[in-house]
Amino acid sequence: MTDATSTIQMHYAVNDLADRILSALEAAGHDTSNLTVEMLHLVDQLHGGGLNSTIAQAGMVNIGKDTRVFDAGCGVGGSSRYLAQTFGCQIKAIDLTPEYVETAVHFNKLCGLEDRISVSQGNVTDISEDDQSFDLVWCQNVTMNVEDKARMFAEVYRVLAPGGRYLFSHTARGPNGEPHYPLPWAMTPEYSYLETPETIVQSLEEAGFINIETRTKVGRPGNAAIRSTSELGQSVIMGEDMPERQANAVRSGKEGRLIGMFVIAERSV
Ligand SMILES: C[S@@+](CC[C@H](N)C(=O)[O-])C[C@H]1O[C@@H](n2cnc3c(N)ncnc32)[C@H](O)[C@@H]1O
Repeated sequence: MTDATSTIQMHYAVNDLADRILSALEAAGHDTSNLTVEMLHLVDQLHGGGLNSTIAQAGMVNIGKDTRVFDAGCGVGGSSRYLAQTFGCQIKAIDLTPEYVETAVHFNKLCGLEDRISVSQGNVTDISEDDQSFDLVWCQNVTMNVEDKARMFAEVYRVLAPGGRYLFSHTARGPNGEPHYPLPWAMTPEYSYLETPETIVQSLEEAGFINIETRTKVGRPGNAAIRSTSELGQSVIMGEDMPERQANAVRSGKEGRLIGMFVIAERSV
């Protein structure tokens, strides 16, 4: 394991995470003996805009029961559960952080989704899946922690079937200098690997992707059109300093230091 990998795992790792989440939900008045996917969404959306952003992202492509989905960096599995429950699709998911994988597996089972979602520990730069296995590679706010984007894009391209789509949300480097740290994905610049939108598109083209479309993520960082609906939010998992880190992301967006974006790219045949 590289130093960078263990730094990123330590950034996200939390002990007794499932218990911590259930306790927070109970303290907020939810009956966790009848746990639902919706209840978990109050805490399991580890990206700006929360569930609203996930819904917006899912609306950018057609997803059906037969769509084979790969969730590349699933966190505690919130969006995998949203996609599986909403569209009835089969999902394979990976994440770098073992505690998140364990928590995702636990909650998928409690929600009765273990037959539709399988989760394992893995790295998006070295995906343990066969060539051309998926119709959709889904990813939310992972790429800022990945230094070797060329390798990640090559791996995603490899596992996509011809005509398959790579759909990700991402925070890019803006034109006005370094963002303010700490940020949700990194406390310091050492493991925050930001690229401009132009560089991202160029790297995708070099990996072979076609029909690349980028959309500015109206809302975060920068303004409030896509806002989290959760009363509990990411602090339950990511720590009490999340409001400060999220405020830094918003401020950096307003100042043109960060650009929130959605990206869709297609594997050519
Ligand atoms: C901001 S969280 C987003 C989690 C999830 N996609 C979501 O939106 O709820 C970033 C996630 O990326 C994972 N991650 C970072 N680098 C990774 C890599 N190289 N391979 C797989 N997962 C990675 C982290 O463990 C963490 O769960």
